[in-house]
Amino acid sequence: MNVFDAIIQRRSHRGAFQKRAVDPDDLEKLIEAARWAPSPFNVQPWELVLIEAAEGKTALADLTEQAVIAQFKDPNFLNDNSRWMRVKASEWQQRGDGVLLSEHVTLPKPLQNAPEKFLEELLNNAKSFTLLGHLGAGKMPAREIAIQVREAPLLMLVTMNCKRFPPGQGGTRWMWLSMGMLIQNVLLAATALKIGVQFVSAPFESAVDREKIRQLFNVPTSHEVITLLRMGYVDTVGGDSVRKQTSEFVHIEKMKAK
Ligand SMILES: Cc1cc2nc3c(=O)[nH]c(=O)nc-3n(C[C@H](O)[C@H](O)[C@H](O)COP(=O)(O)O)c2cc1C
Repeated sequence: MNVFDAIIQRRSHRGAFQKRAVDPDDLEKLIEAARWAPSPFNVQPWELVLIEAAEGKTALADLTEQAVIAQFKDPNFLNDNSRWMRVKASEWQQRGDGVLLSEHVTLPKPLQNAPEKFLEELLNNAKSFTLLGHLGAGKMPAREIAIQVREAPLLMLVTMNCKRFPPGQGGTRWMWLSMGMLIQNVLLAATALKIGVQFVSAPFESAVDREKIRQLFNVPTSHEVITLLRMGYVDTVGGDSVRKQTSEFVHIEKMKAK
């Protein structure tokens, strides 16, 4: 697959994967892609933990489950979330941003056939619905995500070694940018190998959970745990996604005053 096709066809894979383990040759290619990411002064601040055994997967699945349950009880999270959730596919496509509600969470049975208008109202008032979270509405989606984490053939924990700091005032900024470079290399290589990838961000939201993850995987205190990628083979790459039009984010010479 050429690089342009990989860029266009890469998707966040939220469903199940094929059961088979990632082939060692393919894993080597993913790691090789990561290895060649750029970084300031070539500091290469990254270290990766590959997790294939049940023990590590279960620990991360449990943390993810608890983190998602907590998100459903957090008014600020729900409020911010609703800003980017799209109920109607047509609105999602027209706006070219955000995520489709039905792709992100399996709604509880009574809501699955609810009119779109009702769901939109629900989202718009999400903040006041933390009560539902306290009553356990987050449990089902949380369990679903946890199962997906536990059953993924491969988890990749991405960490940053803060001791490998580049010179200059902007060090932290350049370090984080480098981590993004590494992750995108992995995502593109995975696409070319028909390996689907999903970010699992929930357990990285809180400092307490990050600390638990650090300890669970023996990550030194000098390192920051950045994110978790769950991955496995998929039948086909590509699928629905949306983006803004180029005219909405590309400016010639200067940005127009808004
Ligand atoms: C830093 C970062 C964190 C993300 N966290 C999650 C996540 O926790 N769960 C998830 O399903 N997708 C996550 N995503 C994927 C985005 O939702 C996705 O990239 C966006 O909706 C566009 O869809 P596409 O990647 O399929 O084109 C994350 C992406 C990035 C870059």
